[in-house]
Amino acid sequence: MSDNSNIETNEITINEIKRLIAFVKMQYKFDFGNYALSSFKRRIERILSLNSFATIDELIVKLQNDSKFYDEFLREVTVNTTEMFRSPSLWRKLRDEILPILANYPSIRIWSAACSSGEEVYSLAIVLKEAGLLHKAKILATDINDVVLQKGKDGTYWNRNMEVNENNYLRFEGKYKLSDYYSKKDDNVVFDKSLIQDVSFKTFDLVQNEQYSKFDLIFCRNVMIYFNPELQNKVVDLFGRSLFMKGFFIVGEKETIAFCKSSERFETFSAEERIYQKIKE
Ligand SMILES: C[S@@+](CC[C@H](N)C(=O)[O-])C[C@H]1O[C@@H](n2cnc3c(N)ncnc32)[C@H](O)[C@@H]1O
Repeated sequence: MSDNSNIETNEITINEIKRLIAFVKMQYKFDFGNYALSSFKRRIERILSLNSFATIDELIVKLQNDSKFYDEFLREVTVNTTEMFRSPSLWRKLRDEILPILANYPSIRIWSAACSSGEEVYSLAIVLKEAGLLHKAKILATDINDVVLQKGKDGTYWNRNMEVNENNYLRFEGKYKLSDYYSKKDDNVVFDKSLIQDVSFKTFDLVQNEQYSKFDLIFCRNVMIYFNPELQNKVVDLFGRSLFMKGFFIVGEKETIAFCKSSERFETFSAEERIYQKIKE
């Protein structure tokens, strides 16, 4: 049977979703209450299907008795898809228009929020290195999911996933070859550890909304799309507070902050590449 037909048989109601969210909040202290309902529901239906659970209660019982399964659940629900140099034209804009500004600062503080398995972080480090700025940069790399964060720390990626990364790097028009930054080991590639010498990988939940520090550049790409407008507002407010004046904020190519209350703190630096700049405290 295909995934789709399974998903149809496992169609769930809004009340069941609410019950599941309340349970996860109580047991695991994670609040999915402000995730966009339609995509959250689709992810749960997929989990039911993949695990052959006939009802939401079977899923709740499994979560109740198996905290390891919660890690898998979190991974499925939070969608960790990522690529190096994802949206190559953004990385060109960063190199050609933003880094020349940041190059004048004594140090450059960057936050890659919701960085998944770190591909965005290695892309950043490579762009900085090619601009001769890596030594000045301190990068905070955060995600809610420890398992993907560990992959980022290890800098080890499957060989078979590298084609898309190599192609993106070519489209970015980097100075060298992406393979100059890694070595091959069995079925994997291992990135040069010197790239992440000044990167701290930390677990951080955007829903908790606590300010960490202040930054010159914040990336939060392809995660707000999974949040409802209320949570998007809170998160954009957090990033507004977490940026120095004139700091840059970059979201995913299908995202915008135009409808968020805190958008008045920002002006658009590049509409095409979804880059904003803080203009008001
Ligand atoms: C689709 S990936 C995006 C990765 C990368 N930023 C990119 O654009 O390629 C979304 C990431 O958001 C993370 N995430 C989801 N909810 C989160 C939350 N509440 N706090 C922090 N990270 C979260 C997921 O674990 C996942 O790694």
